[in-house]
Order: sequence, then structure tokens, then C-alpha cells
Amino acid sequence: MNKIEVKNIYKIFGPRPKRWLQAVHDGMSKETLLERSGHTLGLRDISLSIEEGHIHVIMGLSGSGKSTLIRHFNRLIEPSAGQILVDGTDVMSLGQHELEKFRQQKMSMVFQRFGLMPHRTVLDNAGYGLAVQGVRRAERNERAQHWLEQVGLTGFEQQYPHQLSGGMQQRVGLARALATDAEILLMDEAFSALDPLIRHEMQDQLLALQARLNKTIVFITHDLDEALRLGNRIAILKDGELVQEGTPEDILLAPANDYIEAFLQDVNRGKVLNAEHACYERPLTLTMRTQPVHAVTQLSNRGYEYSAVLDGKRLAGVLTRPAAEQALAEGSRDIARYVEDMASVPATAALDEVLARLLRSSEPLAVTGDNDEFLGVLSRNKVVELVTPMVEAASEAAEAERPAA
Ligand SMILES: Nc1ncnc2c1ncn2[C@@H]1O[C@H](COP(=O)(O)OP(=O)(O)OP(=O)(O)O)[C@@H](O)[C@H]1O
Ligand SMILES: [Mg+2]
Repeated sequence: MNKIEVKNIYKIFGPRPKRWLQAVHDGMSKETLLERSGHTLGLRDISLSIEEGHIHVIMGLSGSGKSTLIRHFNRLIEPSAGQILVDGTDVMSLGQHELEKFRQQKMSMVFQRFGLMPHRTVLDNAGYGLAVQGVRRAERNERAQHWLEQVGLTGFEQQYPHQLSGGMQQRVGLARALATDAEILLMDEAFSALDPLIRHEMQDQLLALQARLNKTIVFITHDLDEALRLGNRIAILKDGELVQEGTPEDILLAPANDYIEAFLQDVNRGKVLNAEHACYERPLTLTMRTQPVHAVTQLSNRGYEYSAVLDGKRLAGVLTRPAAEQALAEGSRDIARYVEDMASVPATAALDEVLARLLRSSEPLAVTGDNDEFLGVLSRNKVVELVTPMVEAASEAAEAERPAA
């Protein structure tokens, strides 16, 4: 289900946005608009669906419109044109009172610079959103206390923000956002001010919390590694336009243009891609009931040395070509007795782990999902290709340059 749906929004900053809407609609560039009218193009024709329970990352360079986009979700910014639906409700249709309730209860925000109040204790800061909602002190403290515990800050309740490290302050910000029980978290560069190690820890913590809480999270970042790590889906903005939207794999395997490729240059693909991305397109599979003659024919037709064998959806093992030939020679009814154990890796295993395993042994590897469900057979070539596209390109270039013998 879509939690947030954005339909064709345009945002033009300046005194007379409506007057320039048509020109922007017809393709006038951000620079030309500024030159001719003094108006700034914030967003151009953005449509985006954010699914309930997902972490949806918004990426892009500074000034690309990320903050502008998410401020439309709670109507801190109103669109020049277009529609924003949250849980099916058009946010522009809300009256003043409804809007206040909506902002307090549906969404909470986590900010880059933590946004804590320096003269209030950690406990009061964590309970602040609840205070705004009118929750009484006793209950407020109890709930704030609970969320501080969830983010690992028990014992710091009576301290003041300046007594905490940056990472701890950001945890207070996270506790405050979670305490209101809002279904949607808007996180605008929430981890950007943290040093890399703490940042990584906060990402882990967010993922762990999310596995239990199942919120809808809109997460803005400049950092592609962070985006690929956290996002179920990623939207990339450039100059107010949406240039690509998809799963991390979609973006990594098929970047829409040079802008995105430039972003991707330094990504550690071995960490981001997983075993499922490196399976053969059409693996041969046999079942325990397959007749030996059929197994031998299939293997030799395809020129394979082995095949995975299934038992229902589950991986039962592997049948090698010599074993298939032996089954045939011994006149067995089926291949069941000739099936050997097959090593497997989970679909979620990162390619660099898979690669390490491939280097240690030459045995065939199956890729399995939950409950041993068979998903495919790992292709060694594909693993290497996916992990090292640059190396590949470089060696091809070297090959081309080599003079003919
Ligand atoms: N209130 C405003 N008035 C005029 N122009 C604005 C306003 N807010 C944003 N803009 C312009 O809209 C564009 C998008 O800004 P926005 O703050 O959304 O970018 P961003 O992607 O969040 O950047 P950053 O990564 O630096 O936070 C920029 O060109 C900016 O100058
Ligand atoms: Mg911003």
C-alpha cells in the first residue's frame, strides 16, 4: 500500500509562481527561469509513491530539491501545482486544525543538527513531541524513558544535550521522533553530522528498530553508501527533477545517466549486491524423481558438469555428470540415491562474502531463500563481473590495445 503519493508536483519559489508555471511545464530550465524571472525552480513534475513500511531514500546534490520535496509531505511547503496524498488524504484539503493534528500525529522529523533544546534535559527533549500533543507529564516521561532505552540512552535522562556526544544527541532526536508513535518518519540528513563510525552504528540501529517498528521512513542523504544500505528504494533528484527511482540494485545495475554513474563510481559493489544477483539466468534443475537417462541427456545437451536437484521447492542436493552416468549404468529408476549434498549461500549474502567463499573452494554453490527454498545456482563469472566492472573494462581496453601476434 502507498503511504505517501506525490503526483506531478511543481514548486517555484518567488512572488508569482503561477505566472511561470506554464513556462516551466514547457521545459524552461532552472537557469533561464532565474535569469528571466528571478524565480527559483524547486521541483519540476515530481511523481513518487512511497510504500508503507519502506525506507525510501531521497538523494541528490546540494540544491537538487530534497528538502523541498519532503517538506511538501507535511505541508511545510505548498506546491505550485500537483497533489500530495498521505494515507489517501489530500494534504491540501486539510483545514488549519486538522493540519496541526496531522503534523503532530502522522509524521515526525529527525534533523541533521539534532534540533534539541539546550536548556532542557534529555528526558524532556525526548518527550517534547508528546508535550506538544498534550500528553500529561507522567505518561510523557514514561514513554520518553522507554524510547531512550530503545536507543541505548538509559541513565542519561537528567543530563543536558551539551553533555552528550553528537551520536548520543542524535539518538535523543531519534527517541523524540519515535516517542510520538507517528507512522511516518522524515529524516533530513539525519546522520550527516556524525563521524563515519558512529554514523554506521546509527544506520545499524535504525535498521534494527525498523525491523520491529515497520514505520514508513523518508530518508534524505548525500551519501550513496548510506542510501544503498538503508533504502528499500531510492529516488535521485537533480536540479529539481527526478532522474531515477528504483531499488538499490536497479540503480546500481542500470544507472539512468552520467549523473548517476558519477555517483556510483566509488561504491563498494561487493557490499551492496548479493548472491541472488549473481545467479545463472536459466539454471538446469532436476528433481529426485528424474530418470537417469533424462538427467544424462539434459546435462550433456547443455554441456554442464552438474545440476541442482530439487525436492518440491527446496534444494535437495547436486547431481554430477559421473553420478548421473552411474545411475544410468546401474539401471536405477530415478536419481534420488545418487544425489549428493550441495553447498549453498543465502540469497542475502553480500557478494564480497560470496567471493571469499568461491576463492576457498571450487564446489558448485546454490543460492537459497527462507526455509532452504531453491533460488538459483551461483555463476562464478557473474560474481567476478559484478564485483569488478572497472577491472573488466580496463582489461578489455588492454586487450584491444595489444598488437596482434
Ligand atoms: N524558501 C525558499 N526560497 C527560495 N528558494 C528556495 C527556498 N527553499 C529552497 N529554495 C531553492 O530550491 C532549490 C532546492 O533547495 P533544497 O533546500 O530543497 O535542496 P536540497 O537538495 O535539500 O539541498 P541540501 O543538500 O543543500 O540540503 C535550491 O535551488 C534552493 O535555493
Ligand atoms: Mg536539504
